[in-house]
Amino acid sequence: MIEIKPNIYFVGVKNPEMRIFDVFFKTERGTTYNSYLIVGKEKVALIDTVKEPFKDEFIKNIEEIIPLEKINYIITLHHEPDHSGALKYILEKSNAKVVISKNAGLFLKQILHKDVNPMLVGDNDKINLGDLTIEFIQAPFLHWPDTMFAYVPERNILFTCDFLGAHFSDNSIYNDESIDFSYAFEHYYKIIMRPFKDYVLQAIKKIENKKIDMIAPSHGMILRKDPWKYVELYKTWSTPKPREFKRALIFYASPYGGTGRLANSIATGLVESGVHVELFDLAGTVIDDSLLDLIENSDALIVGSATLNGDAIKPVWDLLSSLTTINLRNKIGFAFGTFAWSGEAPKLIENRLKDLKLKVPETFIRAGIIPTEDDLRIAKEAGKKLAQYIIGSSSSAQA
Ligand code: FEO
Repeated sequence: MIEIKPNIYFVGVKNPEMRIFDVFFKTERGTTYNSYLIVGKEKVALIDTVKEPFKDEFIKNIEEIIPLEKINYIITLHHEPDHSGALKYILEKSNAKVVISKNAGLFLKQILHKDVNPMLVGDNDKINLGDLTIEFIQAPFLHWPDTMFAYVPERNILFTCDFLGAHFSDNSIYNDESIDFSYAFEHYYKIIMRPFKDYVLQAIKKIENKKIDMIAPSHGMILRKDPWKYVELYKTWSTPKPREFKRALIFYASPYGGTGRLANSIATGLVESGVHVELFDLAGTVIDDSLLDLIENSDALIVGSATLNGDAIKPVWDLLSSLTTINLRNKIGFAFGTFAWSGEAPKLIENRLKDLKLKVPETFIRAGIIPTEDDLRIAKEAGKKLAQYIIGSSSSAQA
């Protein structure tokens, strides 16, 4: 338990040993499940809970300050189980009103398996704790549909849910006392917030006129020193930077060289039509943050594979399963490949590109294991056709 502002306490739990969050998110320095207790002169509010396995330590932290039955409100800023997992245990020992955003009713029922008649709040709604007020700010899709912020104007503190958080744990809970966590902060943005850049900018607009000298997210460090510096980073990362050329990326898996030759011919057609092209042989391509940045900042994603046992080759699926943190809408997609007898790969790739919400204006092409000159001509023509869609596309291009 740490008092972070007069009568506002950190009652969260640290999990420094965790190395993988939600099965896929690497966390070299664990995480924290931040929860905050606001003790007003008349009422008491708890902001978020923690992941269920940490409930005992969490409850002990609260009870160092007040008994659970004294809690009047439990505010859940969104309902992902790492913050709502201990909610049912607090409700067992208190008559607290659960306060949620207007579109969170279904999520709360899924978590509790019953209706607890929550208080629904939206922009500018307030709760009065006596000497302290909690104002609510809707921040949808940061990163759940029900996400909201809570602001206490008497203390200039903003509680931001996962927004401006980081999977990071240190001895201190404050940014100015921690070792450097900038990598974790940026990585968290890229994994959690990147698909929702428009919503990031909308939320920043809602808070930028408020007096805030401390930002308390639900993971990682409390931003006590220069909190606006972190808001500015989000703003920079989320603001589109138009570029003056169209960019297509071509990825291919080509065990015998034929799919690579098709890739080169498609590239030639694109380049001759004025599109900037970058080619990636998936045999030597590392799928990391910088590659995802490049994909995000491209107008077209063109993917080819030889068919192996009726499927595309594994590096293709590694690529296509790594794109969920990127907004791919409005990008142009296209599939191609080579085959010896059955040739399923390009169709499977095309289906995946469509499922990822890319626009796929042209049906895939495929050729025999060693493409003929005619196959290469068709591939080049496909590149030229794609160029027309790419040049006319409105993908949110960035430099
Ligand atoms: Fe940390 Fe979206 O939960």
